[in-house]
Amino acid sequence: METIYAAMTEDRLEEAAIRRAGEILRAGGLVAFPTETVYGLGGDAFNPESSRKIYAAKGRPSDNPLIVHICRLEDLEGAALYVPEEALRLAGAFWPGPLTMILPKRPELPRETTGGLDTVAVRFPSNKIAQALISAGGGFIAAPSANRSGRPSPTLARYCREDLDGRVDMIIDGGQVGLGLESTIVDLTEEIPAILRPGFVTREALERVLGEIRAESTAADADRDTAPKAPGMKYRHYAPKGKLTVVDGDRDSVAAWINGRVRAAAERGLRTGVICTEETKNLYRAELVKSVGFRDDEASIARELFRVLREFDDEGAEEIYAESFDGSGLGAAVMNRLLKAAGQRLVRV
Ligand code: TXA
Ligand code: MG
Repeated sequence: METIYAAMTEDRLEEAAIRRAGEILRAGGLVAFPTETVYGLGGDAFNPESSRKIYAAKGRPSDNPLIVHICRLEDLEGAALYVPEEALRLAGAFWPGPLTMILPKRPELPRETTGGLDTVAVRFPSNKIAQALISAGGGFIAAPSANRSGRPSPTLARYCREDLDGRVDMIIDGGQVGLGLESTIVDLTEEIPAILRPGFVTREALERVLGEIRAESTAADADRDTAPKAPGMKYRHYAPKGKLTVVDGDRDSVAAWINGRVRAAAERGLRTGVICTEETKNLYRAELVKSVGFRDDEASIARELFRVLREFDDEGAEEIYAESFDGSGLGAAVMNRLLKAAGQRLVRV
């Protein structure tokens, strides 16, 4: 298929292109679009055929459920069977924004969209292009991240094109996304709410609204036989083609250890890479040394991480070492994605 391209900004929506995208969605087609977190690949959430097409275009296993995106708070009831009081409190505090809630699903919502589950993930994004598109498409748009399965989520339309050109009906370029990591997922179907995926809405922020919550150990889940709560967490994600190892310890020991490994790898003829920060980039001597941002500005790191992972692929890095990040607040979300990319390979020095 020939993919249609359109470009716009949040301040200047292109009405004709949004209308076109809405028609495509209502007819069962697929449109990639920007959100504040990462680009999404949208289809009509109430059309099982659209959801099947999403799985096919991404090469994604069909037991991995999709997030339903809405553009008005009152539509939460259109996807969820009932809306508990906690959901309304969370919506009041964080919507529109980078938070996804898991709730019992309405029976009309096809199982193709929820990966066979009785629950549904719902998110109300703040990006204005996303909101206009959801509205034009009928109000309920199922959208996973707009990458081929296993690749980092796209933070630029260029990466949607790389992964999905010819596989989707339309790609809307809205520039670089603001946040760069996928939404926080909180499960409200259990007695005690649980974080299934850390993100910008931190555990601390959620606790201020909800009181006690549980943080699911997604790292441990990967090794367990039981099905993890967020089915997506069991798949290897964001994996760069090279072998990635995360290294934790004090600044100088980490740099010395990584430089030693890089030297050994280079002697074996391998192309080496290091993921570090502005504060530390001068300490490394690998072939490809990439800073992801400033250590004291975690948001900058979140924004650039997926782009840097993709660049290592483009530049053919074979052995990659990454500094580790603080496991609290936003650092927890960064570290979660980095460890997934590394297949949980973590070395303490
Ligand atoms: O920021 C985001 O959330 C982006 C943008 C496009 O909105 N979307 C996104 O979707 O990251 P995706 O499909 O890449 O990740 C959705 C995650 C998966 O890990 C999936 O297993 C989980 O949400 N999920 C979806 N529905 C669920 C459900 N009913 N119960 C538990 N986990 C669910
Ligand atoms: Mg994804």
